[in-house]
Amino acid sequence: MIDFHSHILPKVDDGSKSYEETKQLLVEAKEVGFDKIISTSHYAQDCFEVPEYKRKDIIDQLNLEEDVPEIILGSEIFLTFNVLELLQEYKASPINKTNYILFELPLREHFVNLRDVLNRLKEEDYRLILAHPERYAVVQKNFKMLYELKEMGVLFQSNYASILGIYGLNAKLTVKKMLKNNLVDFLGSDVHRAGSIYPKIPLAIEKISKIVSEDYLDDLTTNNALKILNNEYIN
Ligand SMILES: [Fe+2]
Repeated sequence: MIDFHSHILPKVDDGSKSYEETKQLLVEAKEVGFDKIISTSHYAQDCFEVPEYKRKDIIDQLNLEEDVPEIILGSEIFLTFNVLELLQEYKASPINKTNYILFELPLREHFVNLRDVLNRLKEEDYRLILAHPERYAVVQKNFKMLYELKEMGVLFQSNYASILGIYGLNAKLTVKKMLKNNLVDFLGSDVHRAGSIYPKIPLAIEKISKIVSEDYLDDLTTNNALKILNNEYIN
């Protein structure tokens, strides 16, 4: 399995606090079945701004560790109007140097001119993946927004533990509806702390497998992510 969303790098954002915690996270990830982890540290202007070359150095170092999942370069980019510059200046990172980018939105507020920003990215050939749609209040209140985004080519990454209710009842109900309607493209842990999400992954998969087919589950946990790593289209 490939973990599509993680804050596994030490001292880069609000995720892992130390190299030791990162190593523990890698062991936990392996235990529950991940062999690759996409590192999607927050890139948020004026908040988390560790540029690509620094994160790449940390990843290269961590990938020397044996018997743990491979870490792959990426970012979780907090969407702003200058997102294109952040990418062109190698501050924020596409996934595995492909055209795919993982972006997040404000959890509570409406993002003004969302479509304009997304269209600008598309004009530059970026392919868009929205992180954990089920967690946004705007999506919880207006589910059809997901169909509008899908129409624009946006893909969706949901969090494993949303189905367990750890982000609240609305996120749980929303992810359930997304799964039932084939709207999820990838699953990720969104792990920040050791001893938190990874041990819950087997239970989350058990619950998800009661909603989706075996083939769809394989796509969500592994196959679609593999295609993204190779810069292929998933549909
Ligand atoms: Fe995240």
